[in-house]
Amino acid sequence: MLSKEEKELIAQIWEKMIPIASEIGSESLHRMMTTFPGTKTYFSHLDIRPRSKQMLSHGKKIVLAIAECSKDISSMMVTLAPLQTLHAYKLKIDPYNFKYLSHCLIVTLAAHMGSDFDPVAHAAMDKFLSAFAAVLAEKYR
Ligand code: HEM
Repeated sequence: MLSKEEKELIAQIWEKMIPIASEIGSESLHRMMTTFPGTKTYFSHLDIRPRSKQMLSHGKKIVLAIAECSKDISSMMVTLAPLQTLHAYKLKIDPYNFKYLSHCLIVTLAAHMGSDFDPVAHAAMDKFLSAFAAVLAEKYR
């Protein structure tokens, strides 16, 4: 469970990422595909070279979806319903991949935020993204 303070912190962090959503998202995707190469199989129809137009555009979509959800974390189940269905039934993403992307998002945030990404922010973000990933994977159960 996230405290009120943690929810506010998470919303603030993602709000700040909106102007650089394509950078944060594409870097996270690039890290995921490099570190966990099996994830590339889902993106064979896209140009997955770092910072390609498609990576920047897809990365932006991911970050904007997370930022939107972070504004009202308690309603996550409702906000994420369309993405849940898309990833489970249409794209058929194996659920463990959500943990990989969450991890890479955290590393990217740490790299961009420097000392602002302190242990409190790290712990809150880890809890938030774990909950997020669990909701996205929920339809598989
Ligand atoms: C599509 C978000 C995790 C693979 C999308 C879209 C969004 C999104 C917003 C676009 C939906 C649309 O256009 O209507 C997220 C978020 C994730 C996540 C927030 C977790 C934090 C993953 C993971 C994979 C994945 C782990 C695979 C390893 C895909 C694919 C598409 C997609 C293949 C379709 C891309 C295309 O054809 O343009 N995702 N996603 N997603 N996602 Fe995810």
